[in-house]
Amino acid sequence: MNILHLDASASDSTALHTRRLSGELVQRLEAANPGATIVYRDLVAAQLPHIDMTIRHAWTAEDTGDTRLAETISRFKALVDELKAADVVVVGSPMYNFTVPSTLKAWVDHVAIAGQTFSYTAEGPRGLLNGKVYLVLSSGGIYSQGPFAAYDHLSTYLKAIVNFVGIVDVEIIRAEGIAYGPEQDQAAMASAAQKIEAIAA
Ligand SMILES: Cc1cc2nc3c(=O)[nH]c(=O)nc-3n(C[C@H](O)[C@H](O)[C@H](O)COP(=O)(O)O)c2cc1C
Repeated sequence: MNILHLDASASDSTALHTRRLSGELVQRLEAANPGATIVYRDLVAAQLPHIDMTIRHAWTAEDTGDTRLAETISRFKALVDELKAADVVVVGSPMYNFTVPSTLKAWVDHVAIAGQTFSYTAEGPRGLLNGKVYLVLSSGGIYSQGPFAAYDHLSTYLKAIVNFVGIVDVEIIRAEGIAYGPEQDQAAMASAAQKIEAIAA
């Protein structure tokens, strides 16, 4: 089993939610699947660039010997290749301003490429990947239900993207309502940890 583990939280060690939970899930998946290989991408450390003209051009360009173009091609190819090679993808992501952190969006922009992870057909777009994705999410407020459910552009967006590239097996683990106080924080983390335990059992 090949596991691709992504983290996008900029929290420091005093307030870890998604990094702690995604790490826990990967550890348990590894324990349940001896010999599993793990590729880890810390997207905050990676600081992938925003799409600019070179990146846009690189999707279809041949390597012309230009150093920046060559670096850009090899960067997105490496990211696409490790996604294609993954049987399981674990994404740890907090909610920032109702959606994904821009570091994770930059990763999506590097891998959601026509001809690589999806293609256009006469019947419409077709995803080229398969496998399983776990979305390990955290937010200050509560979005899985209640008055703010319509503000959830985190789980809905990530689910749409992974479905679009062909991965339909998506499981969501949430620690939400963290900002409602220490008791809710602890309860949300305990409930997410329980779900992780059940997944790996
Ligand atoms: C830049 C920033 C933006 C945030 N935006 C939201 C938001 O829109 N909605 C929300 O409920 N929480 C928001 N939060 C709170 C985080 O989602 C929450 O603290 C989460 O538990 C952080 O997870 P982590 O510890 O894994 O980083 C924001 C936090 C930061 C730092």
